[in-house]
Amino acid sequence: MNILGIESSCDETAASVVRDGREVLSNVISSQIAIHTQYGGVVPEIASRKHIENINPVIRQALADAGMTLKDIDAIAVTYGPGLVGALLVGVAAAKALAYASAKPLIPVNHITGHVSANYLEHPDLEPPFLCLIVSGGHTDLVVVKDYGEYEFIGRTRDDAAGEAFDKVARSVGLGYPGGPKIDKEARLGNADAIVFPKAKVADAPYDFSFSGLKSAVLNYQNHARMMGQEINRADLVASFQKAVVDVLVEHTMDAAREYGYRQVALAGGVASNTTLRAEMDRACRERSIELYYPSPIYCTDNAAMIASAGYYEYKKGKSAGWDLNAVPGLRL
Ligand code: KG4
Ligand code: ZN
Repeated sequence: MNILGIESSCDETAASVVRDGREVLSNVISSQIAIHTQYGGVVPEIASRKHIENINPVIRQALADAGMTLKDIDAIAVTYGPGLVGALLVGVAAAKALAYASAKPLIPVNHITGHVSANYLEHPDLEPPFLCLIVSGGHTDLVVVKDYGEYEFIGRTRDDAAGEAFDKVARSVGLGYPGGPKIDKEARLGNADAIVFPKAKVADAPYDFSFSGLKSAVLNYQNHARMMGQEINRADLVASFQKAVVDVLVEHTMDAAREYGYRQVALAGGVASNTTLRAEMDRACRERSIELYYPSPIYCTDNAAMIASAGYYEYKKGKSAGWDLNAVPGLRL
């Protein structure tokens, strides 16, 4: 079964054709990063306008790269939330128009389910149940993937998402947008043990996360240094911040794997492309003989192949949408 996936929840316009939920036949991503960098973050109105310009060419390219026309597509899957409402609407409207015109089923996909499904694209052996750490710009969740698209929450963030903390800290040290990849790179030049930042624990919720205290500690550190006229070593600062985030992500995931008895762990979301997180999680899993899965960086950040994969499993379960499908910016897992 060939699924055309469409994704436009934030600042990437993407379309992809995936066969049977696992085999990527094409993966087209038009990124708006260069435009939003000028403003230090995603400007929703500009994102929507760019999606409108890009959506048709991107879909056309995804079909062409797969060597297909709409006739070869069995169903159309689209992200309908969570995300920016104006951005989501562009993908949803395009998917509805294509599905209606070609009389194909329309499959609504939760963006976060898409991130989890990115793991199926390159790991044919991975099947639920497994433990998954979802770390993106908007989410930090530790979940058990009980079945395709079925989750049990073990932990979630109480305030900022991990990616959000990366972006805010990057901005505060002048690294700009998008913060995650820039901190990842800069941290390689620094000493992660230079500054000891607090590792937030949430009382009575051992698997929940909290990153706003850490973010404030990084800001306070800078203010204090400025007041004292001390120079800040930026590489040391971001390396130490990154270590504080990664340590807590790894600890919680390993503790949960032990307590719940899972031998398969997967990472999902933009922050899953962080090289230190991957390396530290690799090390921790190897020590415990746990099988670790993560997508290639291109499938960690927003893309439509993950939406097509998730769409395939949703469709197999009999899920499809009517022509009244709407964007749901606050959609939950
Ligand atoms: O999953 P994603 O592409 O979009 C959302 O659904 O949010 O995640 C974007 C987030 C941003 O906060 C970005 O800074 C972060 O993922 N990110 C990273 C890295 N690459 C992207 N964070 C840390 N290290 C990276 N290499
Ligand atoms: Zn995302």
